[in-house]
This record gives sequence, C-alpha cells and structure tokens, in this order.
Amino acid sequence: MSARQYVSQLTKLETPYYFYDMQLLHDTLTRAVSEASKYGYKIHYALKANFDPRIVSAALQAGLGVDCVSGNEVRTAIESGCPASKIVFAGVAKSDREIRYALGQNIFAFNCESLQELQVINALAAEMGRTAQVALRINPDVDPHTHQNISTGHADSKFGISYTEIDEAIRTLHTLPNLQIVGLHFHIGSQIRQMEVFENFCLKVNTIKQWFADQGVEVQYLNLGGGLGVDYEDPDVEPIPDFASYFGTIHRTLKPAPHQQVLFELGRSLVAQCGELITRVLYTKKNASGRDVALVDAGMTDLIRPALYQAHHKIECLTAQGSECSYMVGGPVCESSDIFDKTAMLPKLKRGDLLAIRTAGAYGSAMASRYNLRDLPRSVYSDEL
Ligand code: LLP
Repeated sequence: MSARQYVSQLTKLETPYYFYDMQLLHDTLTRAVSEASKYGYKIHYALKANFDPRIVSAALQAGLGVDCVSGNEVRTAIESGCPASKIVFAGVAKSDREIRYALGQNIFAFNCESLQELQVINALAAEMGRTAQVALRINPDVDPHTHQNISTGHADSKFGISYTEIDEAIRTLHTLPNLQIVGLHFHIGSQIRQMEVFENFCLKVNTIKQWFADQGVEVQYLNLGGGLGVDYEDPDVEPIPDFASYFGTIHRTLKPAPHQQVLFELGRSLVAQCGELITRVLYTKKNASGRDVALVDAGMTDLIRPALYQAHHKIECLTAQGSECSYMVGGPVCESSDIFDKTAMLPKLKRGDLLAIRTAGAYGSAMASRYNLRDLPRSVYSDEL
C-alpha cells in the first residue's frame, strides 16, 4: 500500500519524512528469497541502499546476509544481529583500520578490488595471526546501459581488477599465505532493467570463471553483485520487481561448476518501492517564463538522486485532486539543482498540500546530508501509524 492509503495519519505529522510501507517491504523480501532459493541462490542485502534500522532488521529476518562497503557498515550489520559468517565486505578503497576491524570480526569474505589490496589484507591478516577469505572483484567490461554515474563494469572504471590482470592476480595469490581465495565477485552497475544485459554479463562470467578453473583455481562461489532496477515511472504497476525473470535469466545463462554457490548483493530492487519521501508545499508561484513553481520542505539534502543523476521520481499529491497542470517542484536548498521535477503533472496546489515522492526507499535517506545545516529526514513506518 502506498502512502495514499494512510493520508489521514500522515497529514498530521511534521514533514519532511520517509514513509515506509512495511508490508510491501516484507512481501518484496519474501518474493526475492523464494525466487532465488528455487536455484539455491543466496542474497546479501546491499546495506548502502538503506541502513534504516527497521529496514535492516526486516532484511535480516528474511534470512539475507549483508553486503557492506565500509567498516561502519560492517559494524552496523554486526550490531543489527547479522552473523559475521554472512557478511561480505566490498569497497574499492578499504582503509587499514576498516580491514583490521573486519578481520577481527571474522567476516565471511573481503571482495578485493586490486592486486595491491590483496597484499595489504594479507599483511594485516598475518599481523593478526589470521587467514582472510577473499573474493576477487573482476571487472568484466560489460556495458550495463544505465546512467554513467551508476555504471561500474566498463573497462575504464576505478572498480575491480581488470580482466587483463587475471594471470597476475593468480600468481600474486600464490605468494600470499594469509589469504584464501573463496570467490569471484562482479558488479556491473545499478538500475538495470534489460534482461539481455544480465545475459551478456553471465556469458562473460562463464568465460572468466573458466580462465580461473584452467589455472587450477576453483572458487567456492560466484558473487554477481546487484543491479536489478525498478520502475520509477509507474511504481504501482510493478511494486515488486520481477525477481522471477531476473533469477530465471541468470539460471538459464550462468554455468557454475557443480559445487559452486551463486550469491547476489541486491539493494535497490529490495527497498526502493517501499519508501516515499513525504513533503509539504510551502509556497506556490509563477516564474518569469510562466512556469508554475511549487516550493516544498524537502530538498536535495533529503533525496539527492534527481540532482545527482537526473533521476526521475514520480510525484503525487496526497491532498488535492482535479485537473492537472505542469509544475516545477523544488526544495529549499540554495542550489539551482535542488529540483525534484521540472514538469510534474499535479492538481492545482496550495500551501500545505502533501506530496509523495515515490520509489525513494533506495539511496534516498542513505544519501541524505546536512548541507545548509538542514535536519536529516526522519522515518515513519506504516505499521507504527
Ligand atoms: N554490490 C556492489 C559492489 C555495488 O557497488 C552496489 C551498488 C550493489 C551491490 C547494490 O546495487 P543495487 O542492487 O542497489 O543496484 N546511489 C546510486 C546507486 C549507487 C549504487 C552503488 N553500488 C543511485 O541512487 O542510483
């Protein structure tokens, strides 16, 4: 159920805030787990998408592991009750302090992104008298056909070990006694909606995995990262992403060795649709070019995706109805990029109207900032109303 169903309760609350539909979250997690388990696949929740405590706890309750990209994320996962054996630690530039902390916690595996990082983890593990389990993040050079700021798997990227360095990576591993290679890790980008992209990706993974096997390196698992996209234009058409097609496509194309497990690190597809940013209209006016402008109390500090990636989030009015016209919807931050939409179709708005900015559960509150000394957005949960 979207925020629209709770409008009488929501309108009494001080804005802006993130509203989370906990039933939709639960249903989404359950569907993802059941589709993945048809093929024995395991999912780690990409904590970076949303670290709200209730969201994290729902993911853990659904049986997911956690994919972390900083020492603080590893700490949050552990403090939220995730067993260390279900934590993977990715991140392109892990500091020594973060690595030491994760080694001390005995996490399941580090996803390593350079040959030098392998040497550093080996040295720190030796100092602590431990052996670290590692997965090599290989950059497969696949075009994800998504926004350039969220694509990671092309050749000219800071992420991963280049597939041209694989031989050297294998030679390096033989010289590092405190590392045990357990997996191969990949992630090509985010908000991917075309299944053919995942097909091409799996074909590449098959080839790369075979190179390793040919060199005598048989890993325990393949980690395909995240990336499944959601419908930002029409959130009510597909409130739960099509996990059946996603995992089905992978199952048809990926050819793991018989003993090899397949892991995923999903973020957006699990939590995007359950979250909406609720904001109130503060002022309305017409600008010099004749455009209707609605100024609201949420800004780019609450949801930066439109400003940073030109992302489009559907905006709905929860309190007014009637014939619609085009509005520029902007926030209070002193930046001209603090605009949620330049052509949102909305009924005639007045001061005090409540708007819902949809599909904001992933990379919304998690990317909030205190720029302009604004308050961080609060959370409101459907089952606590
Ligand atoms: N694994 C790795 C290694 C990643 O880098 C990411 C996301 C994920 C998994 C989860 O990907 P997902 O399933 O959520 O697509 N802030 C941007 C998205 C950045 C994604 C960063 N990495 C946005 O708002 O679109």
